[in-house]
Amino acid sequence: MSEAFARTLALLHHISSMVADNHPLPAILQAVSEATQSLTQASWGLVLNLPTVEAPEFYGPERVLALGPSLLRHLRQRLPLESPPGVLQLALPEDGSICFLVVPLLSREGLRGAVAALYVTPPEPKPNLALRLLGNQALIAIEKFRLESIVSQRDEGTIRALASAIDARDPSTHRHSQAVTDLAVSLAQAIGLDEEAVSRIRYAAILHDVGKIGIAESILFKPGPLTEVERAVVEAHPLVGVSILSGIPDMKELIPLIRHHHERYDGSGYPDGLRGDEIPLGAHILAIADSFDAMTNERPYHQGLSILEACAILEKEAGRLFDPELVPIFCRMIRQRIGVIETEDSPES
Ligand SMILES: [Fe+2]
Repeated sequence: MSEAFARTLALLHHISSMVADNHPLPAILQAVSEATQSLTQASWGLVLNLPTVEAPEFYGPERVLALGPSLLRHLRQRLPLESPPGVLQLALPEDGSICFLVVPLLSREGLRGAVAALYVTPPEPKPNLALRLLGNQALIAIEKFRLESIVSQRDEGTIRALASAIDARDPSTHRHSQAVTDLAVSLAQAIGLDEEAVSRIRYAAILHDVGKIGIAESILFKPGPLTEVERAVVEAHPLVGVSILSGIPDMKELIPLIRHHHERYDGSGYPDGLRGDEIPLGAHILAIADSFDAMTNERPYHQGLSILEACAILEKEAGRLFDPELVPIFCRMIRQRIGVIETEDSPES
């Protein structure tokens, strides 16, 4: 591993730890501005935060804060930006001597902020992965803070508000959360869980991918295979989800389900490699519902399978990837839904 790469990872880890440990947003965004300066060989780093109601905020060294409003004005003039926007190069007429490389922080609802590297001489044009990753971290922190500020207690409205923040990324995510919720709740009811446990699974299913909020769309919807770094970014989403929910009162009981929804029965999953009964029952249920919906729907990287093909895969992987006691109940429920159960169970009839 090169020294520069190790340094990038260390700084990104430092910032994501600050997010996970619930440091105040200004401290996190100040750290992002310092890391931007350090990782992009820029003269300075500057971070913009655009809260929904309050005035825009700027983070960076004192001497460049005054450039924030002008940078924001130029970014807004370029709206709507293509999504994903990548890294933009800007020079402000008010201060033509400085060149900006900017990653706008975009959600479906609009511009949330930006991370900018400022240069006194224009830098070499080259892909700037470090700047994009710092943008991801800043967006996670900003979205987490925004969600925490709109949420004070766990109720249906709260959960819906959180879910709409996830859905804002992409309509197919909305369909996926709905489908996983329906499947997970049906399975929870089919095994006779009480109302409270079913309700916990319903909320966890709606929010299971909340941690994907900060993943760049270029990674999330990439049609081809992911690189090692991109895979690490995607596989961090259960822990990012935990970090988001841990700051919200009364969400704590959902955390084990969100954290472990990508664990696998044989211990080959993530983030903790738990196996068998170490994995919470609700997380086993989410894993089956999530995988079934992913298999039966077209994604950028694969064609959807038929319902029966997906059931056959779940049954083949029962005991390896999925809970072997839950899979037969789930598949029976699915076959009943599509009306093939009688044919399979009662060949004579
Ligand atoms: Fe997930």
